[in-house]
Amino acid sequence: MIEDTATFQYLIKAGIPADLPEYHGRDESIQHAPIRNINVLSPEERRLALANALRYFPASQHETLSAEFALELEVYGRIYMYRFRPSYSMYSRPIDHYPAKISQAAAIMLMIQNNLDPLVAKYPHELITYGGNGAVFQNWAQYLLTMKYLSEMEIDQTLVMYSGHPLGLFPSSSLAPRVVVTNGMMVPNYSSKDGWNRFNALGVTQYGQMTAGSFMYIGPQGIVHGTTITLLNAGRLKQLGDDLRGKAFVTSGLGGMSGAQARAMLITGATGIIAEVDGDAIQQRIGDHYIRQEDIYTDVYALLTEFVKARESGQARCFVFHGNIVDLWEAIVEKFIHIELGSDQTSCHNIDQLGYCPAGYTFDEAKKLLQNDKTAFDEAVKNSLRKHIHAINILSARGMYFWDYGNAFLFEAAKAGAAVTDESKPSGFKYPSYVEDIMGPLCFDFGFGPFRWVCTSGQNEDLETTDQIAAETIRDLLIDCAPEVVGQWRDNLKWIENAKTDIPPVGSKSRILYADARGRIEIARKFNLAIREGRLKSPVVLGRDHHDVSGTDSPWRETANIYDGSKFTADMAIHNVIGDAMRGATWVSIHNGGGTGWGEAINGGFGLVLDGSEASENALNSMLYWDVNNGIARRAWARNPNAISTALDAMKKEEKLEITMPNIVNPDLLKKYFT
Ligand SMILES: NC(=O)c1ccc[n+]([C@@H]2O[C@H](COP(=O)([O-])OP(=O)(O)OC[C@H]3O[C@@H](n4cnc5c(N)ncnc54)[C@H](O)[C@@H]3O)[C@@H](O)[C@H]2O)c1
Repeated sequence: MIEDTATFQYLIKAGIPADLPEYHGRDESIQHAPIRNINVLSPEERRLALANALRYFPASQHETLSAEFALELEVYGRIYMYRFRPSYSMYSRPIDHYPAKISQAAAIMLMIQNNLDPLVAKYPHELITYGGNGAVFQNWAQYLLTMKYLSEMEIDQTLVMYSGHPLGLFPSSSLAPRVVVTNGMMVPNYSSKDGWNRFNALGVTQYGQMTAGSFMYIGPQGIVHGTTITLLNAGRLKQLGDDLRGKAFVTSGLGGMSGAQARAMLITGATGIIAEVDGDAIQQRIGDHYIRQEDIYTDVYALLTEFVKARESGQARCFVFHGNIVDLWEAIVEKFIHIELGSDQTSCHNIDQLGYCPAGYTFDEAKKLLQNDKTAFDEAVKNSLRKHIHAINILSARGMYFWDYGNAFLFEAAKAGAAVTDESKPSGFKYPSYVEDIMGPLCFDFGFGPFRWVCTSGQNEDLETTDQIAAETIRDLLIDCAPEVVGQWRDNLKWIENAKTDIPPVGSKSRILYADARGRIEIARKFNLAIREGRLKSPVVLGRDHHDVSGTDSPWRETANIYDGSKFTADMAIHNVIGDAMRGATWVSIHNGGGTGWGEAINGGFGLVLDGSEASENALNSMLYWDVNNGIARRAWARNPNAISTALDAMKKEEKLEITMPNIVNPDLLKKYFT
């Protein structure tokens, strides 16, 4: 490993090395992405994939590299260019360690490296950050070239990135974004799952998920906060009180996002069980202290005995069943254990890549089945989903509140023929999604979303200062905020006050805090001032994930509570990214896909580097305002009551804002027509 800063800087500036680096084969000591099935590719298409990959290298190296890349394509289903994985350690360094001409470029390098840090990323050697296929880049040549461009970038240049591929540095202006990212943008008719597999294998597109391809992932912390809010509000919705002590929550998944459920159980006081089939995922969560070795069981009945005792004594605890969620639900049914809250976070959006392990198979057996007999695998998944829903239906009839966690679970279960559809519900499913019942009306419609920041000094003191600033700001906001959002701000104050102890640090020095437009702007202004005054030592990167008010059009998730028929449109996300780009974002991104699957969402993101300057002040005021109020206006137009009140309030406070408001028709009038 090369650790000294001078060599690191030299290697970054060199980009793709002129001489072939030594290669000793793939590093088998770490977890790798599932093998992608490329049976659909014809020999001609495989040659095309090879030619596409070789474009990054001089002809003199083609003989050697073609053989190596052809093998990668055949064996792993993708050309990752393992030979070019850098020899230095991958993590977010303090900003001044990056060889850059401008701080914005250095901050972006820091964010990229954080997304590829083995402690943060799911499959770092395949450049996958989370969600099984959420890629930062398609291959290592793209990474090397992007970092080189960033090291050369000047304040009047913009780096253009097509699905991980850096198209080049283009002249622009200091007011333009420094980087514009698109991921997986397809001509609509070609945006199918099969299309992703084919075009990704050809090396011409990638699935950037949400925060992976926009360099904004900050480890499971980001999702811990959202999951905590979801759990607390699910409890309130079902009159379980303000915390979940003595209440049971059962779910699945200890992956990139789903792992957050473990932490949220402890924060909310719930006694919970998470089923996870993959031993590596369990080890990763033990590694970052989200779960404890002593809470892991492979015997479901032994687990349930301990769980019942812990719940009765009101222990905030997360048990883990190392096994299939279907077996867990069935055992709970059999033992007549009452569960208050239930959900599922298997990666059903990604079934083709083993996102859902069918019941009756261990994780390894399922892997083999998928590789050797895709038809049998698909059938096993369908059987499993039908059993899965059958058990949930029984427990719901006994009083459990179950919600879909935006993972395409109900969607896939319905496709498998499970008894889960209900035409009388707006979604067409028996169970609501967490956005329909909880996050949509209670958070997004008020403008609350996953605001976040990263302290580029890499120092804990800076993070603590930002936590204190945020807490002070919330205390001020609580004095005169709308009564409907007092509960949210109180939850968020508690979150930020306890974040240092509740959230084990993973990767960059970052923090998430759900906030509305006013909260985001107030906090950002104070950060900018603190940088100017030297209370914060280095720039702060602002951003959010895409699970938000405005950035994402996703009919089964972020926009699931839009009922005017527009939830299948993507105008909001597109306007969001265009609007952010022209209001001062440092980088913007727009993606096809996200958590609900390729073709199922369009989502945009941004990064904004605050450096204490007046330019930062102008950008934060203008951009953050738009970044929230765009969605408020759209949600209000869709007749969502909380968004209507938020929009009216926003117009009262800003004279230059004029939102087109809906007139509400009497439902009895409508009943007279088309009967
Ligand atoms: N947490 C959130 O707030 C949130 C929001 C929206 C969507 N989601 C969705 O939740 C899903 C999970 O996200 P992730 O990043 O954790 O994905 P992931 O792939 O990293 O983790 C999913 C985990 O589920 C496990 N699993 C699969 N089948 C199983 C089974 N039958 N029984 C037990 N465990 C099984 C896998 O081994 C894996 O570790 C995704 O579809 C994501 O889009 C989460």
